[in-house]
Amino acid sequence: MSNVLEVRDVAKYFGGVRALDGVSLSVPEKGLIGLIGPNGSGKTTLFNVITGFYVPDKGSVWFKESEDMVRIDGLNPNEVFRRGIVRTFQIPRLFNSLTVLENLLVTPPGQKGESITKALFIKSWSDEEREFARRAINLLRLFGMSRYVDSKIYELSAAHIKMLETMRGLMTPAKLYLLDEPAAGVDYPVARELFTYVRRLREEQELTFLIIEHRLEILMEFVDYVYVLHNGKLLSEGRPQEVISDPKVIEAYIGV
Ligand SMILES: Nc1ncnc2c1ncn2[C@@H]1O[C@H](COP(=O)(O)OP(=O)(O)OP(=O)(O)O)[C@@H](O)[C@H]1O
Ligand SMILES: [Mg+2]
Repeated sequence: MSNVLEVRDVAKYFGGVRALDGVSLSVPEKGLIGLIGPNGSGKTTLFNVITGFYVPDKGSVWFKESEDMVRIDGLNPNEVFRRGIVRTFQIPRLFNSLTVLENLLVTPPGQKGESITKALFIKSWSDEEREFARRAINLLRLFGMSRYVDSKIYELSAAHIKMLETMRGLMTPAKLYLLDEPAAGVDYPVARELFTYVRRLREEQELTFLIIEHRLEILMEFVDYVYVLHNGKLLSEGRPQEVISDPKVIEAYIGV
């Protein structure tokens, strides 16, 4: 299986903080890959480097386009998005004045560069737009949020806001999805459904996922392979069972 993403020896420093310090990892096509590590270990920074929010101080990021790996570090977030990488944010980025449905139908700013509100109010929907709306309704049903379709964001609980952020990511067709803690604050059964859906998308639509998650009991049930970051370095990697029984990982989590 060929890789869709390769991170090669990436470093990112913030003053004296080595947020990433020589990290290499790869994501195979159709992979469902976990990225874990204690707080502050560099996980979100890695997403920011992959998606063009940060330029790495060292190393490179490569993404499969047609049959070739092309270098994408240094591209801006918009360009990375257009190449087929969608990410969600640890702290949801939603439009508070819009409804749940509107948030799903809107393309996040700085991504597609189109007028979003205009798209919402055009009279005749194209097939593509109708398909988009169907996708939104399906996602809402799947996550048990249909009754909130017309709610404003400020009327939602933190867990629903978090779920909506993940749904927003899943709305956009892409080759690779980077999800930053999709299950944070979400009830266990709903979090499991979320991961079940991700797995189904991977299988039915041959999509690829790299997922940051602190809820290891859920993540480990679904992923094929896991990378562990610690202090900006790769501490361990392997299949879930190998990683969870790695003494180095246990030590990093317990903080001895
Ligand atoms: N923009 C920034 N400016 C300065 N320091 C930063 C910045 N972004 C991240 N850091 C620092 O880099 C390190 C890694 O942070 P990062 O957010 O990547 O961790 P994380 O693994 O996502 O943590 P968490 O599990 O808490 O989300 C931390 O020490 C953090 O304080
Ligand atoms: Mg983070």
